[in-house]
Amino acid sequence: MARMEVKTSLLDNMIGVGDMVLLEPLSEETFINNLKKRFDHSEIYTYIGSVVISVNPYRALPIYSPEKVEDYRNRNFYELSPHIFALSDEAYRSLRDQDKDQCILITGESGAGKTEASKLVMSYVAAVCGKGAEVNQVKEQLLQSNPVLEAFGNAKTVRNDNSSRFGKYMDIEFDFKGDPLGGVISNYLLEKSRVVKQPRRERNFHVFYQLLSGASEELLHKLKLERDFSRYNYLSLDSATVNGVDDAANFRTVRNAMQIVGFMDHEAEAVLEVVAAVLKLGNIEFKPESRVNGLDESKIKDKNELKEICELTGIDQSVLERAFSFRTVEAKQEKVSTTLNVAQAYYARDALAKNLYSRLFSWLVNRINESIKAQTKVRKKVMGVLDIYGFEIFEDNSFEQFIINYCNEKLQQIFIELTLKEEQEEYIREGIEWTHIDYFNNAIICDLIENNTNGILAMLDEECLRPGTVTDETFLEKLNQVCATHQHFESRMSKCSRFLNDTSLPHSCFRIQHYAGKVLYQVEGFVDKNNDLLYRDLSQAMWKAGHALIKSLFPEGNPAKINLKRPPTAGSQFKASVATLMKNLQTKNPNYIRCIKPNDKKAAHIFNEGLVCHQIRYLGLLENVRVRRAGYAFRQAYEPCLERYKMLCKQTWPHWKGPARSGVEVLFNELEIPMEEYSFGRSKIFIRNPRTLFTLEDLRKQRLEDLATLIQKIYRGWKCRTHFLLMKKSQIVIAAWYRRYSQQKRYQQIKASALVIQSYIRGWKARKLLRELKHQKRCEEAATTIAAYWHGTQVRREYRKFFRANAGKKIYEFTLQRIVQKYFLEMKSKMPSLSPIDKNWPSRPYLFLDSTHKELKRIFHLWRCKKYRDQFTDQQKLIYEEKLEASELFKDKKALYPSSVGQPFQGAYLEINKDPKYKKLKDAIEEKIIIAEVVNKINRANGKSTSRIFLLTNNNLLLADQKSGQIKSEVPLGDVTKVSMSSQNDGFFAVHLKEGSEAASKGDFLFSSDHLIEMATKLYRTTLSQTKQKLNIEISDEFLVQFRQDKVCVKFIQGNQKNGSVPTCKRKNNRLLEVAVP
Ligand SMILES: Nc1ncnc2c1ncn2[C@@H]1O[C@H](COP(=O)(O)OP(=O)(O)OP(=O)(O)O)[C@@H](O)[C@H]1O
Ligand SMILES: [Mg+2]
Repeated sequence: MARMEVKTSLLDNMIGVGDMVLLEPLSEETFINNLKKRFDHSEIYTYIGSVVISVNPYRALPIYSPEKVEDYRNRNFYELSPHIFALSDEAYRSLRDQDKDQCILITGESGAGKTEASKLVMSYVAAVCGKGAEVNQVKEQLLQSNPVLEAFGNAKTVRNDNSSRFGKYMDIEFDFKGDPLGGVISNYLLEKSRVVKQPRRERNFHVFYQLLSGASEELLHKLKLERDFSRYNYLSLDSATVNGVDDAANFRTVRNAMQIVGFMDHEAEAVLEVVAAVLKLGNIEFKPESRVNGLDESKIKDKNELKEICELTGIDQSVLERAFSFRTVEAKQEKVSTTLNVAQAYYARDALAKNLYSRLFSWLVNRINESIKAQTKVRKKVMGVLDIYGFEIFEDNSFEQFIINYCNEKLQQIFIELTLKEEQEEYIREGIEWTHIDYFNNAIICDLIENNTNGILAMLDEECLRPGTVTDETFLEKLNQVCATHQHFESRMSKCSRFLNDTSLPHSCFRIQHYAGKVLYQVEGFVDKNNDLLYRDLSQAMWKAGHALIKSLFPEGNPAKINLKRPPTAGSQFKASVATLMKNLQTKNPNYIRCIKPNDKKAAHIFNEGLVCHQIRYLGLLENVRVRRAGYAFRQAYEPCLERYKMLCKQTWPHWKGPARSGVEVLFNELEIPMEEYSFGRSKIFIRNPRTLFTLEDLRKQRLEDLATLIQKIYRGWKCRTHFLLMKKSQIVIAAWYRRYSQQKRYQQIKASALVIQSYIRGWKARKLLRELKHQKRCEEAATTIAAYWHGTQVRREYRKFFRANAGKKIYEFTLQRIVQKYFLEMKSKMPSLSPIDKNWPSRPYLFLDSTHKELKRIFHLWRCKKYRDQFTDQQKLIYEEKLEASELFKDKKALYPSSVGQPFQGAYLEINKDPKYKKLKDAIEEKIIIAEVVNKINRANGKSTSRIFLLTNNNLLLADQKSGQIKSEVPLGDVTKVSMSSQNDGFFAVHLKEGSEAASKGDFLFSSDHLIEMATKLYRTTLSQTKQKLNIEISDEFLVQFRQDKVCVKFIQGNQKNGSVPTCKRKNNRLLEVAVP
């Protein structure tokens, strides 16, 4: 997926200022504060124009990830926040695209992070340059050369746990596409004195510790080594292990790296054997031995170590032993052998160890070069990375520090020259007027050291080559003479020195005021180290070694190639190689990384302002900024400038048609930036004052906000409008559809309704028509029928006399008449008797007379009943009326009733009028007697019965004694309320009297009579006629009677048959009177 191009700038999200050129106001204080502020925010990189200042963070920062590499890849230098990757990218692209050889100069004091920076540059370039199996192998080899060289050339010092003790310049070669082809490494002066002696709290080279810690037992045995560091004199013990460094693991890394770089197994082994030999050399000790001639001689104390060295290196033990005891000086075919005293023997031993090691180191570099050498002869583009030991000031500074610091002087020199030159050239290129700026040029110090006639190095060489006794002191004297007047040289003896009285300056010392500070050098050892003498006996012994590598390291030991000329001194060698280097660098486009060490404690998060201030001063960074700003603080090509600020002017926003330069002109005019604040170069705009840039930035920021708001506004408007339009369109569509639908619905409804109405109308019309037609047809038919009938009638009338059709009817009527006549006549003779109960009736002669026959029977029956009734007397009529009444009252209610039907109601069964017995009784009663009969009155107390005469008159009910005829009770009919009887076939009945009446004092009457039906009927009739009230007759098998105060229940039960057919009455208790009915 194509990456989104986001135009950003260094100026975005800045902490402090990313480019010191923009610092306002510019002073040492603000400079340091800016660095500190950025350092505190983990922004360790800051620019001065195109120079990168890097402050060692002393901790792993997450800013070197592959994502970061991608971020910086192909981006403009000022586009992202300052980073070493930006510089690397710029250099690499300029190399690839503009065909300019590049060099990356990394400077700074020991521990400032130069080596780390160089590795970062290399890894970045490796990450972004071409890919492919071959290319990757080249890259791997280039990268893996680092651990090998670091193991052999780096050591822990008080300033840096991984201090480079050699200078390194690496050319990485690329083809025209920018793919790496290979590389060449140059090394500068290894600090070999470290092999035999290390200052306090420092270590020998890493490889010794790595070998002893990391090698397998087997390997150690083979190398005749022991793991214990303390066994070796050359290894200082006070800091044998370094915090956070795993020597054993590093040993494996180094072995692995050697393999990748292309060392054969036997080569690697040989290298380790040499290392072992050097270690063991340190253990050879000498003891003095006086000789007869009085000369001091030395003798090896314990030859065991020597023996092992010889076994390891394949040197004849006697040869080596001799070489440690004698020194042969050859001059003009003359050979003079002198013995070595103990001191000389130790000197010889150490010289051998140093030489062995430093030559091994050079061999390693050559061997690596062989591996990483570009395989083609095509033209190459080169990127040089220079990582040289940093400027050093120790307590005791010796020849090595002198050389190292000289090298740093040279680098500073080239920095000054190139930056100024470049700046100047730019102004010329762009046609801008250039004003000179003052800065400290350290050329004068370089001259003090390297001048061919009176430079310190030349003096040293002179001393070394001079016949006669040469000591460090004589050298110092010489210096005192020659350099005394130099303003950067001081010594106790320099007469003209301003510091003559400075007693702090010890004897046998001289002081140089380097660009980075004053350094006091101990003159002791200068001559020796410059001479770098190895006794010929030793080199010859080495050449005789069976060990191929060692042999190759000492070619001068070959007697056949004996060279009496002195080898060049270390100083002159170094001077020459530095000169070559400088020449080399000058042909390339420089890129600077200036490393700054924030503290002396190797600790993260500590920013020692004093220390930083010192570095800033001697690195001339402030001057660097000033030079950069002397003319113009900021420059930018027209296109990006217009692109960045075009929104600030109406004419240029949003698009400027025309050349970018005139766009910028219009823009700056519009913004009313004072003319003196800027200049137009050929391709760039130059801004004098950072403030102007900041103003522009502020305006831009403000404008961007406004634009963002505007964009937001327009976008929102657009969004709402489109939404609205969409809604509106949708609404119209919906409305259209809905209207269509509703109209369609309505139309369908109307159509359906029209059809219904139509059909009704048609139906109605059709029916009407049908009706009319039917009517018409019927009329026609009627007319026809009437006419037909009429015609028929007329015709029949006319022709009736001619037809016999009427004869039938007449015969039929006649016959019928005859039959009916005969029927009636026959009926007359067959008439049954006049008794209404006679059921006979003649049978019916003809079926058609059936109704007549039945009607006749009914009429006849009614007639004979009437005849029968007419015979009755009034008394009989009364009796029948009574019977009829009795039937209505008792039929189907009382079982006794049917037996009473046949009995005539006689009423007066006792002939009171006739019987004299009742004469008294008769007299007492004036009224008409309706019933006179003997009844059984039931004794209320025990249910036994006594006979009484029961008399009913029109108004009263009377009870009289049967024998005497005396009236016992008289009850007016109005006091009789109810008569109760059973439904059964017995003659018991109760007469209930009105409560409170006179007759009721003894209670209701309970009688038994054979003529119960008649008596009840008459009582009913009489009461009705007298009182106009219907007497209540209750027919029930259980009823209550009032006997005096008691209510007694009269209960009728099915009696025992044994007692005969007479019902028996028994008072059961004062509540119950039981009547057993058979
Ligand atoms: N960019 C960095 N990120 C993290 N740690 C760093 C960085 N640069 C340097 N360091 C730390 O600082 C230590 C010293 O750095 P380095 O070895 O690069 O210094 P130098 O300038 O090469 O010193 P010398 O001149 O002694 O060789 C490193 O071992 C590492 O721990
Ligand atoms: Mg280093």
